[in-house]
Amino acid sequence: MNVLKIAVMAAVFLALPVQADWRNEGSPEEQLANLVKLVPGTSHWMFEIGERYKNLYWAAKLDRWEFAQYQVEEIEKLIKVVQLARPKRAETAQEFVDKGLPAIAEGVASKDWDVFKPAFETLRQACITCHGKNDHSFISLPAAPATAASPSLNLPSP
Ligand code: HEC
Repeated sequence: MNVLKIAVMAAVFLALPVQADWRNEGSPEEQLANLVKLVPGTSHWMFEIGERYKNLYWAAKLDRWEFAQYQVEEIEKLIKVVQLARPKRAETAQEFVDKGLPAIAEGVASKDWDVFKPAFETLRQACITCHGKNDHSFISLPAAPATAASPSLNLPSP
């Protein structure tokens, strides 16, 4: 590479605009606007809810009732995050909290698979109802998830 080429490349490099890092150098307004844009949407939180839905089913099936209860609590917290993150979902999310969650809380508290199983179906219907009300009726859920997500449930390989 000759000296001229190096000089041209250096000039091009120096002429490139350096992207300012808004996190350090932006105005408070710009920082706030960007942070709002970065708030994860419904699909992000639903992904985790879906994993917890599977864990809930398997925790109950394996008699891990405390773990099952923990999944219900986390699902409730995540639904409240959805309400905050996406206000247009808030009303239907509240219907789910009021009508969908009490049944599963009772099902888990019973520590009895035969009581839990219909409560889990009630929960599934409440999830699906909200998907329908939010124009996502194509997102179905299994009545009996084949696997769990958490290593704590220590399932044998499928
Ligand atoms: C507020 C109503 C509402 C409730 C309640 C709700 N969902 Fe959802 N869910 C949605 C919406 C809306 C989407 C589509 C996401 C989007 O458009 O950003 C979704 C998407 C999903 C997805 C797909 C995520 C992906 O991208 O792979 C899963 C899985 C899911 N929900 C599971 C559940 C489960 C399980 C429950 C019940 C425990 C539940 N949802 C309750 C509204 C809801």
